[in-house]
Amino acid sequence: MATLTAHRRFQRLAILAFVFIIITYLLLDRVPRHGRQPASEYVRSSFDWANRRQKHAILESTMVHLPDGIIRDLPRIQHEFSKDEPNEAHNKTQRQRQEAVRNATRKSWDSYREYAWGSDELAPLTLVGKESFSGWGATLVDSLDTLWIMGLKKEFAEAVDMVATIDWDNSTATSCSLFETNIRYLGGLLATYDLSQEEVLLQKAVELGNMLYAAFDTPNHFPANAFDFEDARDGRLVADKREASAAVGSLSLEFTRLSQITGDPKYYSVIDNIKTALERTQDTTTLPGMWPTYIDLRNGFLVTEGSYSLGAMSDSAYEYLSKMFALLGGLDPTYEKLHIKAMETVKKHLLFRPMLPDIYPAVSPDILFSGTALSNGPTVELWPDVQHLGCFAGGMFALGGRMFHREDHVTIGEQLARGCAWAYDAFPTGVMPEVSRIVPCETADLAPCNWNESRGRKDEDLPKPFSGVQDAQYLLRPEAIESVFILYRITGKRDLLDTAWRMFNSIVKATETKFAYSAISNVQAGGGTSKINSMESFWIAETLKYFYLIFSEPDVISLDEYVFNTEAHPLKLPKAAKR
Ligand SMILES: *[C@@H]1O[C@H](CO)[C@@H](O)[C@H](O)[C@H]1NC(C)=O
Ligand SMILES: *[C@@H]1O[C@H](CO)[C@@H](O)[C@H](O)[C@H]1NC(C)=O
Ligand SMILES: *[C@@H]1O[C@H](CO)[C@@H](O)[C@H](O)[C@H]1NC(C)=O
Ligand SMILES: *[C@@H]1O[C@H](CO)[C@@H](O)[C@H](O)[C@H]1NC(C)=O
Repeated sequence: MATLTAHRRFQRLAILAFVFIIITYLLLDRVPRHGRQPASEYVRSSFDWANRRQKHAILESTMVHLPDGIIRDLPRIQHEFSKDEPNEAHNKTQRQRQEAVRNATRKSWDSYREYAWGSDELAPLTLVGKESFSGWGATLVDSLDTLWIMGLKKEFAEAVDMVATIDWDNSTATSCSLFETNIRYLGGLLATYDLSQEEVLLQKAVELGNMLYAAFDTPNHFPANAFDFEDARDGRLVADKREASAAVGSLSLEFTRLSQITGDPKYYSVIDNIKTALERTQDTTTLPGMWPTYIDLRNGFLVTEGSYSLGAMSDSAYEYLSKMFALLGGLDPTYEKLHIKAMETVKKHLLFRPMLPDIYPAVSPDILFSGTALSNGPTVELWPDVQHLGCFAGGMFALGGRMFHREDHVTIGEQLARGCAWAYDAFPTGVMPEVSRIVPCETADLAPCNWNESRGRKDEDLPKPFSGVQDAQYLLRPEAIESVFILYRITGKRDLLDTAWRMFNSIVKATETKFAYSAISNVQAGGGTSKINSMESFWIAETLKYFYLIFSEPDVISLDEYVFNTEAHPLKLPKAAKR
């Protein structure tokens, strides 16, 4: 081995040091420091929706402004974790579980980045990109705040660079869904802007907000959910005669936040009009207090149909009521009234207690489910059909219960959240199906009942008391863990953490593929026999985020500082003057 003279050694060291400094400088420059990395290059969309001439313009004079006044100090939502006994073992378990969730997220993200970069979804079995939401990159935008919250900074910076180039006027389809575009894209951009203050995300949110605002350029200013780009440009949209209540009722949080951030009242104004219609019709339906799953918007918000649920097509219309109250700083009492009335009707007509079999007698769990009510006015019939989508209801009851001093609703929320978690445990994969039917108790006031073999014995292959499975799939959905997460933050009950961990491991076991995670066709069948080539953007946006947050310190995205939109994007709440 040759030895160097002192002089040459010094020279080499100097060169090495110089190279090291340059590399460090270059590397540091690319890693965001407190979100202040060099700004991503903003590429403007090709059509300027802000200056599009409106056909049915809303006059400046009739525009409704955000309520002003002194922000109300809302009741504390979260359990006071700081008063709990410090516990080293608990902290250690939390950190380990959190890391496992972060690993699953990184695996999902890395494969999306590798095989489907810029596409809406990764097809997890064939490893190709899939365009299901206009091709703007649904997973890309939907995952932004998850990456931020998990501290995946390199991934975040790269994603923001890509988002900065999205052209909303270059779609893979001729139309988009106002609802889906609002909750996934607009919600994702606004929440991530709230967290990171990345200017380009706000620029993209405003562009998109201005585009979606055109959905309200209809003869009666109710929105057209089927957003045909050509028709929208030409002012030819009309609201539907049969629109899902969720589609019209779940725009309020995002549009309100956009008005709050930009100071432009137009977004808020159009959704306040929907609130007025909800208020006007709430007591006039065949199930007063609730709105039917489908509403006739074209003819002025007619509510004549007779089917009601907290599941598909209506879910987030209810979810957004109490959250709007919070986002407006408690300054619009209408939302409290709408929420409480709706929840009382849900309690009376949709909730039911399952008839639990004698294999659970020792400590029969205190659980409830939410079904579907059919009403023609005089008679109301309960269909005890349980949708995974409806599992968010536990969180909704508990959150509103805390907010409006209704601890009885917090209790119902816990019973519902524990119901869905129990249904996970009931199936061989440890995951509950998309839609199933459960034999209910026939007691009054949701009281428990004894097992009755002649009512309960229906299908030998199903766990008791399930009497049918209409849709056996699990699509990587978040609603069950969402409610368990909210209940943990509200009650501080630590057994919910073990419940969440059990759910996480069951989901991973049933859905993990070599490169990512996939929906499964049947929660009954064990093993890897039933994978479906689908991983929708809500897997990273919602399911993994809620799992991560339940294992995080409770001040990470505190429920006293944020409300989640229905795609798990946390929007910042206004602060009362002194808190
Ligand atoms: C556990 O974590 C909490 C929250 O960070 C902290 O207040 C507490 O002191 C920790 N306890 C122990 C024993 O480490
Ligand atoms: C997470 O991934 C890292 C790196 O692959 C690994 O070392 C660690 O053990 C994983 N943690 C858990 C909890 O799975
Ligand atoms: C539209 O987007 C696709 C990718 O989704 C891209 O390949 C194409 O060049 C874009 N077209 C225009 C006109 O920008
Ligand atoms: C059990 O259910 C059957 C059929 O619905 C009913 O006739 C019977 O009265 C029930 N038994 C009890 C003890 O409630």
